[in-house]
Amino acid sequence: MSHAEDHSGTRRDFLYYATAGAGAVTAGAAIWPLVNQMNATADVRALSSILVDVSDVEVGTQLTVKWRGKPVFIRRRTADDIERARATPLADLPDQMSRNAQNPEADASDENRTLDDAGEWLVMMGVCTHLGCVPLGGNSGDFEGWFCPCHGSHYDISGRIRKGPAPTNLPVPKNMFFDDNTIQLG
Ligand code: FES
Repeated sequence: MSHAEDHSGTRRDFLYYATAGAGAVTAGAAIWPLVNQMNATADVRALSSILVDVSDVEVGTQLTVKWRGKPVFIRRRTADDIERARATPLADLPDQMSRNAQNPEADASDENRTLDDAGEWLVMMGVCTHLGCVPLGGNSGDFEGWFCPCHGSHYDISGRIRKGPAPTNLPVPKNMFFDDNTIQLG
């Protein structure tokens, strides 16, 4: 029984099930794997949550999935990534807000953006906050995070804007662990 079949009887709110093994995107390219769309109307799809199997995502890589019509980056960060992100002074950040749907009033500390307390998992929309291109990453640009080549916006390894025209950090959508190997978006 597949994961999708396994969960479909108990979870009615997801409509896509993405598997890392089917097409992990490690370089943040502007493509993403969309796996196993189940039957639903467009209206229902637009509101839905999805489950993403992250069991095959290696440390230092990311999976990009399509959700609500947009790419979402799911990054599994290295210890060095986490250390750099957490050592960055808030004063160095052009956007001081977390931009985390679950914690919108919090400041832009890395701790307020990651899925887990340890900071290994970072989930965010892969849409540049300038004019909507898909940034490249996550070891790209001047801050070794994500880089948007459209007009030169540089994001750090926490997805926070550091340089260029983008006004805000990459948004963190509602996300949680569904189980040890699965992240739920929405
Ligand atoms: S759309 Fe990304 S810098 Fe303009």
